[in-house]
Amino acid sequence: MESDSVKLAPSILAADFARLGEQVAEAEKAGANRIHVDIMDGHFVPNLSMGAPIVQSLRRVTRLPLETHMMISDPDFFLEEFVQAGSDSFLVHWEGNNNLHRTIWKVKELGRKVGVVINPATPASVLEEILPDVDLVMVMTVDPGFGHQHFLRSTLPKIKRVREMIDSLHRRCELEVDGGVDQETAPLAYAAGADVFVAGSSIFGDIAGVTASMNQLRTTIVRSNPTVLT
Ligand code: DX5
Ligand code: ZN
Repeated sequence: MESDSVKLAPSILAADFARLGEQVAEAEKAGANRIHVDIMDGHFVPNLSMGAPIVQSLRRVTRLPLETHMMISDPDFFLEEFVQAGSDSFLVHWEGNNNLHRTIWKVKELGRKVGVVINPATPASVLEEILPDVDLVMVMTVDPGFGHQHFLRSTLPKIKRVREMIDSLHRRCELEVDGGVDQETAPLAYAAGADVFVAGSSIFGDIAGVTASMNQLRTTIVRSNPTVLT
């Protein structure tokens, strides 16, 4: 696989917020493909994080696409606000949304890309009807809400299953993984079919620094299994 078909999405949840602009600029320079912004409301997940003002500030310091992972109970209420702030795409959960189709089409009507996210306990089969409508599927490889958790290897067969579902549709749809992604686990997800890798602590929390950790992560993924192509 060519290294440019592996996409890295550094998650700022693990960044030093006092140096956020600097750290995102470094990630951009080191070849990040997008910046992953985790929005949590203390309700959908048991943690609080950030809101649209962070997106607005990031918009001024980077040209990278800002992908917004909505871990909130009523994403529809906030979509416009995030679009105004500068979000380029939204990742919305299947869980807890009785009107997912509406949410997805609302994002599309706002002219932004949309991905559907499934938690570790949610089967791939729920994606069947919605897959043709989305630009991306994200498989959570931890239970959402916190950074620095262990990658759940039990999600690997599901990643493979989602890859098969996407390929059978013969259309462009990215397959992203989020949670516990590092040099050891990213190659496993890659071999299962993932092509976009969210990484928080293994990039912003690595003592080697943002540039070195991103280079190492990318190299490790690409070298891990060159026979697997997407
Ligand atoms: C977790 C978030 C992740 C988180 C990943 O709920 O959705 O994006 O930032 O952090 P790491 O890479 O440290 O597991
Ligand atoms: Zn996330």
